[in-house]
Amino acid sequence: SRQWRGVLHEYADRLDVTDATPVITLGEGGTPLIPAAALSARTGANVFVKYEGMNPTGSFKDRGMTMAISKAVEHGAKAVICASTGNTSASAAAYATHAGITAAVLVPEGKIAMGKLSQAIAHDARLLQVRGNFDDCLDLARELANNYPVHLVNSVNNDRIEGQKTGAFEVVEVLRDAPDFHIVPVGNAGNYTAYHRGYREELDRGATTKLPRMFGFQAAGSAPIVVGHVVKDPDTIASAIRIGNPASWQLAIAAREDSDGYFGAIDDTRILEAHRILSAEVGIFVEPASAISVAGLLEQADAGVITPGSTVVLTVTGHGLKDPQWALRTADGSDVQPESVGVDPVEIADVLGLAAA
Ligand code: F0G
Repeated sequence: SRQWRGVLHEYADRLDVTDATPVITLGEGGTPLIPAAALSARTGANVFVKYEGMNPTGSFKDRGMTMAISKAVEHGAKAVICASTGNTSASAAAYATHAGITAAVLVPEGKIAMGKLSQAIAHDARLLQVRGNFDDCLDLARELANNYPVHLVNSVNNDRIEGQKTGAFEVVEVLRDAPDFHIVPVGNAGNYTAYHRGYREELDRGATTKLPRMFGFQAAGSAPIVVGHVVKDPDTIASAIRIGNPASWQLAIAAREDSDGYFGAIDDTRILEAHRILSAEVGIFVEPASAISVAGLLEQADAGVITPGSTVVLTVTGHGLKDPQWALRTADGSDVQPESVGVDPVEIADVLGLAAA
C-alpha cells in the first residue's frame, strides 16, 4: 500500500507530461466509486457513484486544474485567470497558490455558493465579482487572456479536459470494463467531453469492450444544449451549472454522437428531490448541481431507457459542504428546525421514542 500521487503521476504515460513538466499536485483523483444499493433498488440497474467531492478542493475540477496549472508553469506563466460559478475558482486558487503563482478569478456577483467564495479567498486569489452572469465572465476571461500576460485555465484550455479524462480511467480500473451508461451534470459540457474522451481512449487501446452511452443533464432553466440555442438569462438553484452558452458545446455534441448519448433537462424541484435521496438514502452529500445526475438516472430508468441489469456510473461533481443550505429545507420549501432538548436523558429518550431497557 502506498499514497495516491495525483493524476499526473498516476497516469503520466497517458497525459502530455514530460521531464520538463513541473507537476503541481495536491493529490487529486483516486476518488471512490461507491456502489449505491438504494439507487440500484429504485432502478433495477447496477448503480455506482463516482464521488468527486473527495478531491482536495471538493470538486472534480482538481483533475483538470493539476494539468492546467502544471502546463501553465511549464510554459512560464506567472498568473492564471478563469471565469467560474465557484468550483473552478476554488481549484484554480488552490493550485496556483501551491505553484507560487497568482490566480485571478471572475465570478458572477452574488451568484456563487459561500463555501466556494470562501475557498478562493482563503487560497489568496484575486477574486472579482462581476456585475454579470457566468457567460459574461467567460467572455471577459478569454479577452483578458488574449490581450494580457495571463494564462486561461477554463475548460476551453484543452489541458483541463485532458486532466479530467482520468475520471474515466479510474472507473475502468474498478469495473474492469466501461459501464453501459455514464451520467454527468452539464454546465460548459467540459466534463461530459472529458469522460467521453477517457472512455474512447480506453476502448481504442483495448482495455474495454464498449463505450458507455454518455448521458448529460442540464437544469431546466439553463439548458441551452437541450433547447438548441443560447439561453440569455439562465436560471436554476444549481448555481454551478447556471450557464447559458456552454464553452464545449460542439465537442459535447460530437461526444454524444460517438456514444449514442443523450442530453436532458431536469427542473429544480426534481434536482432537490434527488439531492435528498442521495444524502438520506445513500449517505453521499453533494451540492445541488451534482444531484442532477441522480435525477437523470431516475427519470431515464422510469422511461425504460436505462434498463434493469445495466451498469450505470453517476459522477457527482462537488461536495455538499460547499453549498450546505439546501439540506436545511424540506420538500415543501419550509425550513428544517433541529429539535431542542434539555440536559436530560429521560427527555431525550422520550423524544427519540426509545423504550427503557
Ligand atoms: N458540477 C459542478 C459541481 C460544477 O461546478 C460544474 C461546473 C459542473 C458540474 C459542470 O461541469 O462545466 O464541465 O459541464 N462548474 C464550473 C465552475 C462552470 O466554474 O466551477 P462542466
